[in-house]
Amino acid sequence: MRIAIIGTGYVGLITGACLAEVGHQVICIDIDEVKIKALRAGKIPIYEPGLDEMVHRNVSVRRLAFSTSVDEGVDISEVIVIAVPTPPHTDGSVDLTYIERVAREIADSLKQYRVIVDKSTVPVKTGEKVADTIRRYNRAGVEFDVVSNPEFLREGSALTDLMEPDRIVIGCNSERALSIMKSVYAPFSAPIMVTDVNSAELIKHAANSFLALKISYINALSAICEASGADIDKVADGIGADKRIGRSFLNAGLGYGGSCFPKDVAAFISISEQIGEPFNLLKEVQRINRFQRVRFVRRLRDALWVLKEKRIAVWGLTFKPDTDDVRNSVALDLINDLIQEGARVAAYDPKGNEKVQKLNLCPGVHLASSALNAVQGAEALVLATEWPDFTSVDFAEVHRQMHTPIVFDGRNLLDPNTMRDLGFQYYSIGRPLSKASRNGPADRIIPIDLGIRSKYTRRKLRDEVAQRSR
Ligand code: UGA
Repeated sequence: MRIAIIGTGYVGLITGACLAEVGHQVICIDIDEVKIKALRAGKIPIYEPGLDEMVHRNVSVRRLAFSTSVDEGVDISEVIVIAVPTPPHTDGSVDLTYIERVAREIADSLKQYRVIVDKSTVPVKTGEKVADTIRRYNRAGVEFDVVSNPEFLREGSALTDLMEPDRIVIGCNSERALSIMKSVYAPFSAPIMVTDVNSAELIKHAANSFLALKISYINALSAICEASGADIDKVADGIGADKRIGRSFLNAGLGYGGSCFPKDVAAFISISEQIGEPFNLLKEVQRINRFQRVRFVRRLRDALWVLKEKRIAVWGLTFKPDTDDVRNSVALDLINDLIQEGARVAAYDPKGNEKVQKLNLCPGVHLASSALNAVQGAEALVLATEWPDFTSVDFAEVHRQMHTPIVFDGRNLLDPNTMRDLGFQYYSIGRPLSKASRNGPADRIIPIDLGIRSKYTRRKLRDEVAQRSR
């Protein structure tokens, strides 16, 4: 099928590449001429594993092209996908200016029947407004249908999420549009769920808010674990083994961030208020998320006494691993909290340094060239993003480089017993504190089954301890 995607941001570009990959003829459109020029020259503006190769592969076989003209896209494509940003207003409601403008542009160019698909995350009833707008601005009275087809891509695993989705939601009020949408998704083997347009729009906000709620639930539980001496990982395993609950998105940490959850929870609260059914539960989800970081800094302050002038290393800047995206990153908020208190922060991230530097997102931070460089002379190390790379750092060397070997693991990435055996004072989220034993780092034999997340780290650290005791 011939498909036009309007908006080559994260969602638009990845959707375009994947639809071309399964055999469709795709044209990706953006008003940003510089971006389109760069894409035509083979430069991919975002980091997403596998995306570079997929774009180049499909451009080279001429299934994927780039343009700045909505007119051209609407002219040659049966399906027009809207994937433009829907940023938040300061009160949390959604700014729909870009969607409205694209609807008018489509109306101007519409000469024959087209399916207009909304993929941007929008408040319920936006589809109706898009249809009204196109009807109003298209004076020729051309037939069209508006469909809602929300995306469920996670940054860092977006290509797999799109190529092998759990489900495809098509919100559609017409048989003609539905049959075209089924052809678009025919190459995918996922179940297709057909709903009305309003329900599909709600599914997206409800799904993201529910996932955020799961994270806040486990984070609130982590505070109870800290106060009672229980272990949040064991509690999460225990409740997550119940299929009705599920273990995923029950990893306690510093809280959720990124360009989706904070924005979508706020938007859902705002929509619920607008339609007269305030969703107050979600306000508590937000509060717990904010407070998780505050609680963490408080514990750091308790351990170090005064933060002013303390040298603190922070590993992680991005809102999660496998992305260079630092939007609404809890790691950045945390660094700014520490700098505000007068701490001297050296930070390192495998992919995020450049953006933080370029946009000056943490004024006063020193961006280190490696994880080991960041910890030189540090009085505490904070792990703020769960990059797997951090599990393979040489922790014996980290211990040697630090001034005082105190580690605050904000993502429960490391194993408490192993850290203690290497001589660290190790704090994590919702797990008992691990203090180095009095006889020094190498006086203990690490038990085989530590339940550590990374087998590689466990083996590496065990070898290291064995070598030290020799
Ligand atoms: C999220 C959803 O997972 C996608 O399904 C959705 O399509 C996307 O938003 C969107 O609306 O476009 P994403 O923001 O890429 O995807 O990231 P997630 O993997 O969901 O993580 C979000 C945040 O939650 C991260 O800061 C992560 O560290 C945190 N998180 C996640 C936890 O703190 N604990 C967990 O157990 C899981």
